[in-house]
Amino acid sequence: MAEYESLRGKHVLLIVSGGIAAYKTPELVRRLRERGASVRCVLTRGGSQFVTPLALQAVSEDKVYTDLWSLTDESEMGHIQLSRQADVLLVAPATANILARMAQGLAEDLASTVLLATDKPVLVAPAMNVRMYQHPATQANLAVLRQRGVTLVGPNEGPMACGEYGPGRMSEPMELVAALAAHFDGQTAPPLPVSAARPLAGRHALVTSGPTHEPIDPVRYIANRSSGKQGHAVAAALAALGARVTLVSGPVALPDPAGCRVLRVETAREMLAACTSALPADILVAAAAVADWRVAVEAGHKLKKDGDRPPALALTENPDILATLSRPGPARPALVVGFAAETRDVVAYATAKRARKGCDWIIANDVAPGSGTFGGDHNHVHLIRADREPETWPRLPKAEVAQRLAAAIAQHFAARESDRP
Ligand code: CTP
Repeated sequence: MAEYESLRGKHVLLIVSGGIAAYKTPELVRRLRERGASVRCVLTRGGSQFVTPLALQAVSEDKVYTDLWSLTDESEMGHIQLSRQADVLLVAPATANILARMAQGLAEDLASTVLLATDKPVLVAPAMNVRMYQHPATQANLAVLRQRGVTLVGPNEGPMACGEYGPGRMSEPMELVAALAAHFDGQTAPPLPVSAARPLAGRHALVTSGPTHEPIDPVRYIANRSSGKQGHAVAAALAALGARVTLVSGPVALPDPAGCRVLRVETAREMLAACTSALPADILVAAAAVADWRVAVEAGHKLKKDGDRPPALALTENPDILATLSRPGPARPALVVGFAAETRDVVAYATAKRARKGCDWIIANDVAPGSGTFGGDHNHVHLIRADREPETWPRLPKAEVAQRLAAAIAQHFAARESDRP
């Protein structure tokens, strides 16, 4: 069977937690095995209320693991071994409870212990009542997990076993098969249905992107190597999470990201004016590589090579957009995220830059020659926040850096929401 060929020979550890959708898992196991994958199941106590170990054992043709404290299991196949022998872990159905335990790092039964002990990729297929799914606590937990690199599959929207309608239905077995195959093909999982993935709905995000061009005369300008790829990806990722996005972009050769209002500018001063006109905003992400200087006096005509000496260009400083919009005041966005392009001592310089500019978070990236960051498709960044230890993310495609950042932003707002009395 050519379809989903990448599943052949793969070992899937399927963790079945206690949702009604667990009844679909024997079907899932069969579909995966038909495509050449082997499936070993871990069943939680709740899961065993909806599907029996015997049913999963029969379809997987393997022992089903249920107990953390079983001496035989621990001697034959400890929880570390279970994860070690898997290529991927899939939690399906993933209840609100197991998602919360994963987000908290709790290890109180076999399923949660395996999930804490693993260094393998993890996919989760949420399944729960619509209001449990939409609760800020669950959304915050999902944002944490996404930020840690867990892939979400679904949930789907539709009528639910509890008699309600909305997002919260587990993806169908063949959708889970497709998501696993996409994982092994190196693609990202299918996007979440729009209504199920909009934790930033109702928020306005302002994003700056690209270089600025500072004119010398009517035909020449000062510029830099920024492609705008990272800033545009951030705008797209925030829009995908439901934010209303205004993207203020310097000159780039990129298509407009879907669902964003785009204001095109050339110079730093135009960029500041466009940003100010777009306020108020809840979120500012300043990803643009703004030129620090401009020519003090722009020539009104093309400079000619008519003298003995080349013309001297007197420079003057441009406004600092990030620092200006970070200043305390009623118009300051609730969350301001800057970028810091550094070529050495990346974390130390960026930490100082965050404090100097007055922003809340800074994404520090290494732009040393050879890093391939400028103009490239990947980025290796550190997330620096005022109140936390710096976080170093692996080298990732810029789109994934953007998705992780958007997830962290959603989590930040979800946490504030759940703090409300
Ligand atoms: N930035 C800005 N306006 C400027 C300069 C920078 O908004 N005139 C923003 C960038 O969008 C980025 C952050 O400030 O979010 C840091 O940019 P970077 O070029 O790394 O810092 P600089 O201020 O230029 O500091 P330095 O040259 O000392 O590294």
